[in-house]
Amino acid sequence: MILDDALLATLLNAKHIVVFTGAGMSAESGIATFRDAGTGLWEQYDPSVLASSQGYRADKALVWGWYEWRRMRVLRAEPNAGHIAVAELTKRVDQLTLITQNVDDLHERSGNTSVIHLHGSLHSPRCFTCARPYTFPDGIPNEPVGGRRLEPPQCNHCKGTIRPGVVWFGEMLSEAAWKQAEQATLTCDVFFSIGTSSLVWPAAQLPVMASANGAKVIQVNPGATALDNKAHYNLRGKAGEVMPALLDALIAH
Ligand code: OAD
Repeated sequence: MILDDALLATLLNAKHIVVFTGAGMSAESGIATFRDAGTGLWEQYDPSVLASSQGYRADKALVWGWYEWRRMRVLRAEPNAGHIAVAELTKRVDQLTLITQNVDDLHERSGNTSVIHLHGSLHSPRCFTCARPYTFPDGIPNEPVGGRRLEPPQCNHCKGTIRPGVVWFGEMLSEAAWKQAEQATLTCDVFFSIGTSSLVWPAAQLPVMASANGAKVIQVNPGATALDNKAHYNLRGKAGEVMPALLDALIAH
């Protein structure tokens, strides 16, 4: 990958970098994206059944089993070179805010302890009735779990059923998470958009806001996206290749 001098200078002079990630960030860890041709989850599964409160009400065991299958995949996955490069970059710049649409914990496991999860987390389920958090038993079960119908556990407090802690279509993002994301977006001078199709709002609005506010927007993605014509730099490649190369170039400078 050729990094031009202007891009390197932008990074070296940055006071506050935002790194905003989507499903492509975790693709090289073996976690499926949503919209990639052939492999995207929404090509094989119906989001109105599996990612809406109506779908959950209609068939709780189907929905819970699907999210448990996804959570098990994540528990068995490892952070990839892209996650590790982002964690390394965090240590080397004045300020870095990490915002993700991902519901996995691979950024945390590669060393970024403070991550804004705009779309919630597979690891933070809560009661569908009273919203109290539910704690999963520790460890990875030996038996395969999920990928089939599975009755959700019961809430210890109100006996309601437990739902996944992800944001479903038709639901609001956490206000606190959105405010933090917006604030970082409006105060950064460099905004990375990595591995997202930039199709889901309001998240997709963030790089546009950053650009309108004067930040340089750097997109990392092997394919074309809705953000291409708004980004100042389109680095075409996989996160696990581009981000380590970029980090190496910064270190070598
Ligand atoms: P998408 O599946 O829409 O987009 C994934 C993007 O990652 C595509 O632009 C790919 O080209 C790119 N990509 C694939 N492999 C990559 C790699 N190795 N490195 C870098 N990029 C790669 O996923 P998101 O944009 O994250 O919502 O989707 C946004 C939201 O839609 C998700 O958070 C999810 C979904 O419905 C919720 O879970 C609430």
